[in-house]
Amino acid sequence: MRITVLTGAGISAESGIRTFRASDGLWENHRIEDVATPEGFRRDPALVHRFYNQRRATAVRAQPNAAHRALARLARHHDLTLITQNVDDLHERGGSTEVIHMHGSLLGALCAACGCRWPAPLVMRAQDLCPSCGAPETRPDIVWFGEIPYHMEAIWAAVENAGIFAAIGTSGLVYPAAGLAQHARRNGAETIELNLVDSAVSRDFTQRRIGPATTVVPEWVDMLCS
Ligand code: APR
Repeated sequence: MRITVLTGAGISAESGIRTFRASDGLWENHRIEDVATPEGFRRDPALVHRFYNQRRATAVRAQPNAAHRALARLARHHDLTLITQNVDDLHERGGSTEVIHMHGSLLGALCAACGCRWPAPLVMRAQDLCPSCGAPETRPDIVWFGEIPYHMEAIWAAVENAGIFAAIGTSGLVYPAAGLAQHARRNGAETIELNLVDSAVSRDFTQRRIGPATTVVPEWVDMLCS
């Protein structure tokens, strides 16, 4: 039986990476339209690079937590598809070898002119030139609002073929990620939500485990692997 897991910022919160919509969240101190849209990047690329350089510096210092490691363990016992909205690499550093980053990654750089991709330096600058075409249009390889998330074909397939679909640490406010649980349920999956509190789509889940990810995720994985 395939288990498909979707994670959000909440799984990295206890590693010291801020979520988006908490009281001290990233969107409390930055306007989405300024730092997380193609229009904002065209308007002020230096501001956007400063925002992602700060997030990249935080992410590389952060350490994976027990929830990340539990999902790596789960993959050793079950047919797991791990989808994340997160752009940090804590799943990989926690031992997961196959991670679908539907919103891109802080560790990736992209040329807005030719589409070339390469490993992002710790600090990106608006005047950096693309190593392939030489254009001064390098950006973080992050999916911004208004852009199409990556790997959606594989994601829909993993959701439609799941026996269990779990969402961990996500507020359920951003689509298409927020619609995956309903789609899984319509295709016969058991659905479980692991979060500190209700999300905007809690109604789509038949089971809940309420608590911090570093507690409820290892407990859930222990149950599945026992
Ligand atoms: N353990 C479990 N869940 C937690 C924890 C924790 N320690 N801390 C916070 N959470 C939960 C919150 O209750 C909330 O439901 O994590 C969720 C964080 O919600 P958001 O900040 O909205 O993050 P996320 O759901 O990942 O946002 C989705 O929105 O801004 C865009 O592209 C961005 O990928 C992001 C997307």
